[in-house]
Amino acid sequence: MPVRLGILGCGNVGASLVKIILEGQSLIESQTGEVLEIAAIAVRDLSADRPVWVPRDLLTDDPFAVVTDPTVDIIVEVMGGYDPAKPLIEEALRSKKSVVTANKSLLSDYGEEISQLARSQGRDVFFEAAVAGGIPLIRSLKVSLAAERVRRVTGIVNGTTNYILTRMSEDGVSYSDALSSAQELGYAEADPVADVEGFDASAKAAILASIAFGRNVMLQDVSREGITGITLDDFAFAKRHGYTLKLLAICEWIESEGDSEGKISVRVHPAMVSLTHPLASVRDAFNAVFVEGDAVGELMFYGRGAGGLPTASAVLGDVIDAAHNLRFGSTERHMARP
Ligand SMILES: NC(=O)c1ccc[n+]([C@@H]2O[C@H](COP(=O)([O-])OP(=O)(O)OC[C@H]3O[C@@H](n4cnc5c(N)ncnc54)[C@H](OP(=O)(O)O)[C@@H]3O)[C@@H](O)[C@H]2O)c1
Repeated sequence: MPVRLGILGCGNVGASLVKIILEGQSLIESQTGEVLEIAAIAVRDLSADRPVWVPRDLLTDDPFAVVTDPTVDIIVEVMGGYDPAKPLIEEALRSKKSVVTANKSLLSDYGEEISQLARSQGRDVFFEAAVAGGIPLIRSLKVSLAAERVRRVTGIVNGTTNYILTRMSEDGVSYSDALSSAQELGYAEADPVADVEGFDASAKAAILASIAFGRNVMLQDVSREGITGITLDDFAFAKRHGYTLKLLAICEWIESEGDSEGKISVRVHPAMVSLTHPLASVRDAFNAVFVEGDAVGELMFYGRGAGGLPTASAVLGDVIDAAHNLRFGSTERHMARP
């Protein structure tokens, strides 16, 4: 029996997902044993051009009909934002569908609430693509490092700001010229505030800390400073002392005597990174996350943190996991690790 997908959104990520499912059906089946069938794709504008070929008869502008369709098994939410994404995900879970989402903003505010609903319905919510796009990070933290005492997670999780800082550092261009270049290349939005003021990285830091430490960390818990105040003088000073500047998301578990639970600190700010540290060599729009654990030691995950295809690849991995779980009547771990 094919697993039927309802896809909410057909923009950068949704269209790439449709493309890799339609073009890769036989590979997906031979490698995973799952046959995926796209049941419907919800969009806002039915007449808009799509970046890839999409079967027109699958398009609908009624996302609520998709999430309540009894023939749909898994909902993929790649529309973004809070409303209607949140009520749609909730309705999907109440309709006993598993959910895959790439929506970092929603998860950083409501991740635990949505996970609890999923648990109560015996369904999955997977969100590998919400942090660091195509890098398989969330599953590594949740599954491979499930029993690890993670001490610190340090990430370059926003490609736009890393691109801007790379141009400033390597080409000696000012912040505003580097930002313009990022906008010309499509790395930065016309309104770049979410990236350059660190909001996007903070949402990802909240999700990462929740997973790494098994706590419910929300966006409002993250202390935040962006890169708008960084100058070429700062880079010159850093370089003289053997450092460069990166916007880091830092999630730390802090042990204190008599407090076995420990405390956690989650923050996003520009930081001096030693030129000998692996994170210093992460250039342009790439992302990397450095994990330190008691037994495993140091790990680094590196790759493309955004872009339609890398992000869709992470979404597809989640879809396959959710499909396996539906087939075997099981569910996976949700937002926090316990
Ligand atoms: N782009 C990336 O590289 C990336 C990386 C990691 C995570 N993400 C996350 O992935 C999600 C999608 O990002 P994206 O870049 O693909 O966004 P996008 O290009 O703006 O696409 C959004 C899609 O959702 C549809 N949509 C929006 N509101 C809708 C509504 N009320 N009803 C029905 N359809 C609606 C839009 O329809 P129309 O096309 O008809 O307007 C569009 O197809 C976001 O949560 C984002 O944070 C993106």
